[in-house]
Amino acid sequence: MPISAARLERDFQTIAGFTGSPGNGSDRPTFSEHWAKAVAYVVGEAKACGCAVRVDAAGNVHLRPAGLDPNRPVWLSGSHVDSVPHGGDFDGVLGVVAPLEVLRAAKEDGRTVPLELVNFAEEEGTTFGLGMLGSRAWVGALDRERLAAVRNRGGKSYLEAGKPHGVDPARLAEDRFRAADYLGMIELHIEQGPAMWKRGRPVAAVTAINGRRQYSVELRGTANHAGSTQMGDRRDALACAAEMIAAIERLPPEFGEQAVATVGRIACRPNAVNVIADGVSFTIDFRAPADEIIAAGDGALRTRLAVIAERRGMDFTIEQTETLPAAVMSPEVVARLRRAAERVGCGPLAETVSGALHDSAILAPHLPTAMLFVASRDGISHNPAEYSRIEDMTLATRILYEAVTE
Ligand code: HGY
Ligand code: MN
Ligand code: MN
Repeated sequence: MPISAARLERDFQTIAGFTGSPGNGSDRPTFSEHWAKAVAYVVGEAKACGCAVRVDAAGNVHLRPAGLDPNRPVWLSGSHVDSVPHGGDFDGVLGVVAPLEVLRAAKEDGRTVPLELVNFAEEEGTTFGLGMLGSRAWVGALDRERLAAVRNRGGKSYLEAGKPHGVDPARLAEDRFRAADYLGMIELHIEQGPAMWKRGRPVAAVTAINGRRQYSVELRGTANHAGSTQMGDRRDALACAAEMIAAIERLPPEFGEQAVATVGRIACRPNAVNVIADGVSFTIDFRAPADEIIAAGDGALRTRLAVIAERRGMDFTIEQTETLPAAVMSPEVVARLRRAAERVGCGPLAETVSGALHDSAILAPHLPTAMLFVASRDGISHNPAEYSRIEDMTLATRILYEAVTE
C-alpha cells in the first residue's frame, strides 16, 4: 500500500496536541507528561502494525517488526519528539512518524521491512542543558556521571527524571549501541533554514552537519544605585554583557557564511529597574561546517570577550559546556537516497549541509548515516509558525521506504 499522507497528517496533529502550551507551539520537555504521551502514541501505532518495543537504558525507544530475525542487521531511522519551548510541530516529529508510516505501509504490503524506528530522548538539550543526550548515552559518548550531573528545571537529574521512562544506569553498558546490529542510519528532518523553500526544493540529501560549541559566560560587576552612581564609577555587568553580545554577533562572518553564533539565554541579577546589575550569565552557541573553523572561532571569541571584560574591570569566566565535531554523511547512504528518489520519480536529489544539529551527527561516526531534509516554509523553526507541506513530507517518507527496501 502507498505511504499515506492522511495517516502522517493524523500523526502530526495528534502529537502536536501533546504540549504544555496549547495554542502556542509544541512544549514537550523530555520525560514530561506531554513527551510521554507522544511516545506512547508512537508506540501504540507501531504495536498496532506488529512491532515489538524496546526501551534502552538511556531512555530511547526502539520499535521494529516483531517478525524480524534479531540477528539480522537492519536500517535505523528516527529522531525526537522532545521540543524546545514553544517549538514547532515538525522538528524531530517528522523523523519519527516517517519511519512509523513506512512500518505501517510495509505491514499492509505484507512485507517485513528491515527497519528499526528509534525515538531519541533529549535531542534538543533545552530540558537538561545538553543536546543529543539519549543518542550520546546510547553510543557510549556520555557516562552515568554526566547523566547524573545534568538537571531539569525541577532539579531532577536525567537519571532521576528518566527512571520512570526506562533510564537505568546499571544497564547502560549492556544496552549499548552495537554497529553490527545496523546497516546504517537515515534520519528525516525539516531543514529549519530558508534555502530549500526559496529554491523550490521539496527534499534534499544532507551531506554534512555543522559542528557546535556551547558556552556559559558569567560576569560579576558591582550592584549600585542607578541614580547616584556616575557613569564612570560603574561596574555594570549588564552593559558589559550587551557589548559582549554585540561582539559575538559580529564574529561569524569572519569565519565563512555557514558560521553562526547565538546568545539564546541570559539571566541578570538583581534584575531591578533602579539597580546597576552586578551579575549576568548568558549562553553562547557557535557552529560551523568544519572543526578547524570552530577551533579558530573559539580562540577569537575567548580573546575578544576577555578584552571587553578587562577594559570594564569585570570579573569574567567562560566555560565550554559542549563541543561536537562537524559530521560528514555517508556518500553510500546519500547515493542510496538518490536512487530511491529517482525510483519514486522526484528527479535528481538536491544536496545541502545542515546548520542544525541532529542525532545523526552522533551516530555518523559509528554507522553509515545520511539525512533527508524537507523544506521549511521561509526557514522558520523553533517557532509555532514552523511549517512544511504534507506532500513534501509524504514524498520524503516514500523515498525512505524505497531506500530501506532497495
Ligand atoms: O540545536 C539544534 O541544532 C537542534 O535543534 N537540536
Ligand atoms: Mn530536531
Ligand atoms: Mn530542534
